[in-house]
Amino acid sequence: MLKLARHITLRQLQVFEAVARLRNFSRAGEELFLTQSTVSTQIKNLSDTIGFALVEQIGKEVHLTEAGKLLHNTCREIFGTLDNVEMALADLQGLKRGSLKLAAITTAKYFAPEVLGHFSQLYPDIVLSLTIQNRNTILQRLKNNMDDLYILGHNPPAEMDIHSQAFAPNPLYVMASADHPLAKQKTRLSLEELAEQPLIMREAGSGIRSVMETLFESNGLKPNIRMTFDNNEAIKHAVIGQLGISVLSLHSILLEGKSGPVGIVDTEQFPINRSWHVVYPKGKELSVVAKAFLEFLHEEGQRLSQQLQDLAESIAPRSRNPIKRR
Ligand code: PGA
Repeated sequence: MLKLARHITLRQLQVFEAVARLRNFSRAGEELFLTQSTVSTQIKNLSDTIGFALVEQIGKEVHLTEAGKLLHNTCREIFGTLDNVEMALADLQGLKRGSLKLAAITTAKYFAPEVLGHFSQLYPDIVLSLTIQNRNTILQRLKNNMDDLYILGHNPPAEMDIHSQAFAPNPLYVMASADHPLAKQKTRLSLEELAEQPLIMREAGSGIRSVMETLFESNGLKPNIRMTFDNNEAIKHAVIGQLGISVLSLHSILLEGKSGPVGIVDTEQFPINRSWHVVYPKGKELSVVAKAFLEFLHEEGQRLSQQLQDLAESIAPRSRNPIKRR
């Protein structure tokens, strides 16, 4: 250990961390403003000092060896700690400077940028980043401790060792083009009828898809999947183009509202009431900025809940389609 501390430089670890994260020498070089050959030399020197190969390059793909994986985890801890020190120092100066890395599931794109905008009005010097991916990818990032906080569209898996707090509702509705007969129909669609409709589904790994699969399976139904998209906006456009109907979060029509081109299909067992959760691994030392954002998110949660409630009430009477408060 002492030998490593004496011979390894932080810069080498920074280069290695970028290569391990991006799995690519030239992208790591671009991120750190280094040439590809400097990156290769740094990695080679680091491997020589450690006495183990850290990466294997097969074609264009960079893979981590066992030693590389070990070192990558350590790098994350070292740089995470340094980030926290930087932010704590900034906070000591009363500046609230620092950074916030947020990772959120796809539907969060309909509100997270706005929430970040409000946060940044309070703390204009904080550098913000937002990664939007599907549920499985976000859970993987959470396992790898890649971000400060994670936003999930419904309960996190029970077996994960995490802190989790609900902050606003995230109900799922059946949606069709506003001109579609089902969007105008007065009688409720049964689940059997829903399964027979040409459905536009999200990709495997999506939280919405897994909720839908569970719903159909537990009712012994096989849905008629017409097509699969990995993008809620593409699904909305396909619904408007009457390629089929779909199930999406109410957030996805927040901007257009009731008079937009997407309508709600009153369906048995819908809305499916879920809640937004903000999550982080147990034992993670939250930065000052992350703590401030957590608190802020709970205030914003009230505003979001109200917005959704108003929209839900405008599309269907409260008695018929209530969305549950968190
Ligand atoms: P997904 O999550 O992107 O993983 O489907 C969206 C949601 O749960 O609202």
